[in-house]
Amino acid sequence: MSRFYEDSIRRLPQRLGFLFLFFLAIWLQLFAAAQSRPPAAKPSAAESKPQPVDAAGHQWWQNAVFYEIYPRSFADSNNDGYGDLNGIASKMDYLKKLGVDAIWMTPCFPSPQVDFGYDVSNYEDIDSVYGSLSDFDNMQVAAQQHGVRIFLDFVINHTSDQHQWFIDSRSSRTSKHRDWYIWRDGKAPKQPPNNWQSVFGGPAWQFDPKTGQYYYHLFYPQQPDLNWRNPAVKDAMFDVTRWWYERGVAGFRLDAVGALFEDPNLHDNPILPGKNAYGDPNMKNEYNENLPEVHTVLQGLRKVADRYNAVLIGETWTGSVDQLQQFYGHNGNELQMPMNFVFMGINKLSPDEFRKGIAAADAGAGWPVYVINNHDRTRSYDRYGDGKHNDAIAKVMAGLFLTLRGTPIMYYGEEIGMQNNDPKSRSEVKDPIGRLGWPREKGRDGERTPMQWNDTANAGFTKGTPWLPIPASYKTHNVATEQKDPNSILMFYQHLLALRHSNPALLDGDYIPLNESDPKVMSYLRKYKNNAVLIVLNMSPEERKVNFDLASEGVTTKEAKTLLTTEPGMDASRSLQAMTLQPFSVYIGDVSGDVPH
Ligand code: GLC
Repeated sequence: MSRFYEDSIRRLPQRLGFLFLFFLAIWLQLFAAAQSRPPAAKPSAAESKPQPVDAAGHQWWQNAVFYEIYPRSFADSNNDGYGDLNGIASKMDYLKKLGVDAIWMTPCFPSPQVDFGYDVSNYEDIDSVYGSLSDFDNMQVAAQQHGVRIFLDFVINHTSDQHQWFIDSRSSRTSKHRDWYIWRDGKAPKQPPNNWQSVFGGPAWQFDPKTGQYYYHLFYPQQPDLNWRNPAVKDAMFDVTRWWYERGVAGFRLDAVGALFEDPNLHDNPILPGKNAYGDPNMKNEYNENLPEVHTVLQGLRKVADRYNAVLIGETWTGSVDQLQQFYGHNGNELQMPMNFVFMGINKLSPDEFRKGIAAADAGAGWPVYVINNHDRTRSYDRYGDGKHNDAIAKVMAGLFLTLRGTPIMYYGEEIGMQNNDPKSRSEVKDPIGRLGWPREKGRDGERTPMQWNDTANAGFTKGTPWLPIPASYKTHNVATEQKDPNSILMFYQHLLALRHSNPALLDGDYIPLNESDPKVMSYLRKYKNNAVLIVLNMSPEERKVNFDLASEGVTTKEAKTLLTTEPGMDASRSLQAMTLQPFSVYIGDVSGDVPH
């Protein structure tokens, strides 16, 4: 045996050790790569088929009910006080039973959490607070098994200042990513480039001493705006959407879409009278919001989405319905679902204002998308509630919101009558805008409190300390208690959503307002072919009498067959000539019968 072999044999254990470590390292790398890669089983772009439409020409999302989840507050599986993806996965039965077809999750990507996830430091991973990519995949499997689709929140206007792109961008004026963000010289020493203000208070420009320039941030300074005029930004962000589509998501809610572009000449915005909650002068964001260039980006994002049969929802705050219509694009080549925020601007039970807002939305060419709650606005339970009849009013608002022509996007907890739990003092506030704007602006903690699952400690959300305090009303307003009460808000939502999913007039029918001069009772028909449904909503604390002559709508029946009502002892039918309605009540009845085709 040569010295070489002798040596080799002598060193065999050591060599095997090296080999073992070598293969272990390779295996670990492959494992890590597999973790960050979409699972192979998901359909790829090439395999995807055009979305089927139903007899009314509608795609799935037009018949669907969407539900927004704030992951931090939905369900905490590991009892650290923060909700997580395993928590969401464990609630799929609940969501399905409620009648939810798709969930939109607010951002769960790695983030320093300055804006609770809307400051993303890596778009292709999951923040450890919420779990891991494999938790995401498991949650998606659970969702698929329940026929629930998953939508992610894509924060496209800005990143976190901790994103690698920005870290590089601010490192020098010549760095690779410098032009990925909006850098400008000051107007004069110690003066920002123009008068633009952050919507979260203070100037929208932050001076960065390292390179002696200002960067632009419409939101917090820790959320620098991306420069969408740079094609590299566009490519990188489009790739992010592909990455998640390959992983199986059904689409995105696009955050702050109106804010993607700014006037390159940096014109000052017009100043309006008065001051806002942060003490800044009111301003019209004429040169840094809703610029026309945004539509080119949306058309591009839509092209990518179409390859995956994906759906795009937009956070589209606009000044008018006409402006909102532009977000659907020409022949629908931009967003399928730009959100209409009409209800967010009407904070009282006003049939007249609702009629006007709905008529405007309904007259547009695009399919309406309604929301009455989200993670940025005081809950509808408090906005419409009068302090005495809030539960009844919550049902009236559900009766309206969920019977309109269009897709509703609910917000978690709305279905059990969750109320806002605003901080009582500035020191309790977690949302930075609440600390800055206190007391006029209390921040958004109040509408983001943990989901109320039962009447045990912490409403069954966590066994740890919940990240936000839960209001005392959880004792009565929680899923377990309401599931047992046939008259609860939850049961009303559940019945209404079941009806909405099965009734052709509610799914596909036209919206036809009735008795438009009635100041207290809002009524309308939904009519599709030979199906017609009458919806009557008493928005007042008094008993009201109404009557309907529906002959001009081709309805000759004199009676409505009751489908759903909040009134006790559900009569099988009601006369259309003299209908009495209890205070704050909902009546939904079928008036098809003899409706001509
Ligand atoms: C959107 C989000 C809001 C967030 C802001 C900045 O408006 O809904 O929660 O703070 O964008 O990303």
